[in-house]
Amino acid sequence: MIVLVVRNYEEVSLEAALKVAETIRSKPDAVLGFATGSTPIGCYRELIRMHRMEGLSFSKVSTFNLDEYVGLSPDHPQSYHYYMFQNLFNPVDVKRDNIHIPNGVAEDLEEECRRYEDSIKQAGGIDLQLLGIGRNGHIGFNEPGSPFDSRTRVVKLSEQTRMDNARFFKSLGEVPTHAITMGIATIMEAKRIILLASGEAKAEAVSKAIKGPKTIMVPASALQDHPDCLFIIDKKAASLL
Ligand code: PGA
Repeated sequence: MIVLVVRNYEEVSLEAALKVAETIRSKPDAVLGFATGSTPIGCYRELIRMHRMEGLSFSKVSTFNLDEYVGLSPDHPQSYHYYMFQNLFNPVDVKRDNIHIPNGVAEDLEEECRRYEDSIKQAGGIDLQLLGIGRNGHIGFNEPGSPFDSRTRVVKLSEQTRMDNARFFKSLGEVPTHAITMGIATIMEAKRIILLASGEAKAEAVSKAIKGPKTIMVPASALQDHPDCLFIIDKKAASLL
């Protein structure tokens, strides 16, 4: 693991966007793994700026998102489909056919998970996967206790995650109880991983992921075994390292 500590959220976002842009410039048909949540928004904003001002083109890129809520249709404002189109896909030139996000309203969710794994394989695997980290150390929606050999599947969200995400909904009761997520093993197969974290609330999870024992109780600690994993974190998120 390599840990890059920068001053603040702005710098986390800029560094992350530079890495994504480098990947696209060296491999225009790169397969990119994207994450949702508050953390990557600044990175996506910078990528949009690079697209508009510097000609960064996503026209050959394929994308795979980590996860989606079960029961939210793509046009639901809190769905990760909606988030991705709002925060990155609409303003850039990525082709719709090349965008992959698990379908949380699929009739057969198990089949949807298998299909998702297959499409990652057919695309040749993920070149660069962006990750956030939950306060409980989750990556994607792999909550503590998720086996390191887990693959794309339906999971139950922890109460902490539901509470953390309730800020995006009208009430806690509206936060879905389940999600489809890439598994830890699916994530670990990405050729390169960049995890972003900002703020004190993430310091403990970041420290356990980097310095703590490898344990399924801290899903991000699995990343200790990844051959090319970079953490881009700000000083506050690094305060317990
Ligand atoms: P956040 O979520 O970026 O909204 O803090 C990160 C995560 O839960 O993975």
